[in-house]
Amino acid sequence: MKGDGGNLMVADPDPKGLPGAAGATPASALVWDRRYREGRDGWELGQPAPPLRDFFSHHPLAPHPPGRVLVPGCGRGHEARLLAELGFAVVGLDFSAEAIAAARQWASPPGASLHWLQADLFDRQALAAAGLDPASLQGVVEHTCFCAIEPQQRPAYLQTVAELLVPGGWLLGLFWCHGRPDGPPYGSDPGELAGALAQAGLIKALWQPATNSATGRQQQPRENEWLGLWLKHPSP
Ligand SMILES: C[S@@+](CC[C@H](N)C(=O)[O-])C[C@H]1O[C@@H](n2cnc3c(N)ncnc32)[C@H](O)[C@@H]1O
Repeated sequence: MKGDGGNLMVADPDPKGLPGAAGATPASALVWDRRYREGRDGWELGQPAPPLRDFFSHHPLAPHPPGRVLVPGCGRGHEARLLAELGFAVVGLDFSAEAIAAARQWASPPGASLHWLQADLFDRQALAAAGLDPASLQGVVEHTCFCAIEPQQRPAYLQTVAELLVPGGWLLGLFWCHGRPDGPPYGSDPGELAGALAQAGLIKALWQPATNSATGRQQQPRENEWLGLWLKHPSP
């Protein structure tokens, strides 16, 4: 396993280029590219996040046949590959060319439906061009994308997810809840985050501190990962 898990990001020497300063700009993708190239990737686990992997081993969330799911900010694609192994039709999306190139280097599970998309999560045209239309997804899996975007983009993130899901679709997320003022990774307060998810029209099915977090992300006062399963209302 690479990285200590707790040092999710490394401070950028060029703060002008911090991601998401005015919406997600190409420049911010370039900043993430540079982090990947320079190995400043303290978020990298080298495997799917254990709480998400454990969740799927107990709750497959898969109707027959398993539907289409999106992993936004997929990085090198560990969660996307896990979902493809489980039989989902997966889109791993990231606006960093370096991340998508790295994800593509790994072999896909045999018979998998796994597509990599280099696009900005907030670029509706790019999403639509890839068939990511409103009500087109069974699920979204969030892992360290939410904490990478600027806090003012959070409502847009949640709105995008809620719109993309089919009625009854789900958002499974592992959210980094720390109380530090700076970022990325930007912190979250679990209560406020639950309120924002509900405000986006999602219904709580599970919301609890995660267990079996990676080293460095284990529960400490105000430094918890929270695991959440949120459902879009079943009727449109
Ligand atoms: C902290 S990294 C996490 C990567 C991966 N989820 C993981 O845990 O290994 C955040 C990722 O989100 C991507 N990202 C940030 N903002 C994005 C946006 N607006 N659209 C698409 N990808 C974005 C970055 O390029 C980066 O790969």
